[in-house]
Amino acid sequence: MTDAAGAVVVERAEGVGGELVLRRDGGDYEIISNGVFLMDTRNGESERLLVRWALEALDGPAAPVRVAIGGLGVGFSLAEAAGTPGVAAVTVVEREPAVVGWHDGPLRPFSRGALQDPRVRVVRADLVEWIATADATAGAGGGFDVVCLDIDNGPHWTVTPGNARLYGREGLARLAGLLSGRGVLAVWSAGAAPGFEELLRACFARVRVRPVPVPRGEPDVVYLAGGHRG
Ligand SMILES: C[S@@+](CC[C@H](N)C(=O)[O-])C[C@H]1O[C@@H](n2cnc3c(N)ncnc32)[C@H](O)[C@@H]1O
Repeated sequence: MTDAAGAVVVERAEGVGGELVLRRDGGDYEIISNGVFLMDTRNGESERLLVRWALEALDGPAAPVRVAIGGLGVGFSLAEAAGTPGVAAVTVVEREPAVVGWHDGPLRPFSRGALQDPRVRVVRADLVEWIATADATAGAGGGFDVVCLDIDNGPHWTVTPGNARLYGREGLARLAGLLSGRGVLAVWSAGAAPGFEELLRACFARVRVRPVPVPRGEPDVVYLAGGHRG
């Protein structure tokens, strides 16, 4: 079936967070979740920089590095982490089984087969709930050095209302609780989120805000934070 924009619906699935649609437009794919356009395969620069900049911001000994990523999407962030020397383990938290399944099919080239990498573990869970579990706080044994959050279009534009809890003071404290002593939290946003930046600065000793220009419109923004004030 072709929609008004000329894209073909490849699959519809009943998702945990509402209906999921995978669309193909030429050689590219788009994920729509709960009626919200979430991700496509056209660019991916800021999703890769989310991981690269967080890894670069790490203080202390270079390796081995443990990374957590929420969520999987088309896999650009995961592929970046898995392809970075020194990364010993990557935990990806994704609540939609259909999204994980698409990486055995059309999305596999974009995650570059990383789901088959023995260093990569996919947790099928809601990140909001998972961060409170022992599995999360065990952090692959000693905390994650990098936690990358990209489950929404940003702190001000969440795919489902419950996700908004992650961007408040309590959610940030829980995310910080997953980090190792030197750990860095990285948050992706489509556009600046000034209120969120203010809260980050109140909660963390070190905050950096890095815009990523996009072909059209407002730049994407990567927020980096370390040194939770507790
Ligand atoms: C914007 S996409 C991720 C983009 C990813 N960085 C990439 O490189 O493709 C958001 C992903 O997070 C997932 N997601 C949304 N809410 C979630 C939640 N509460 N827990 C876990 N995954 C979630 C979505 O199903 C989707 O796969």
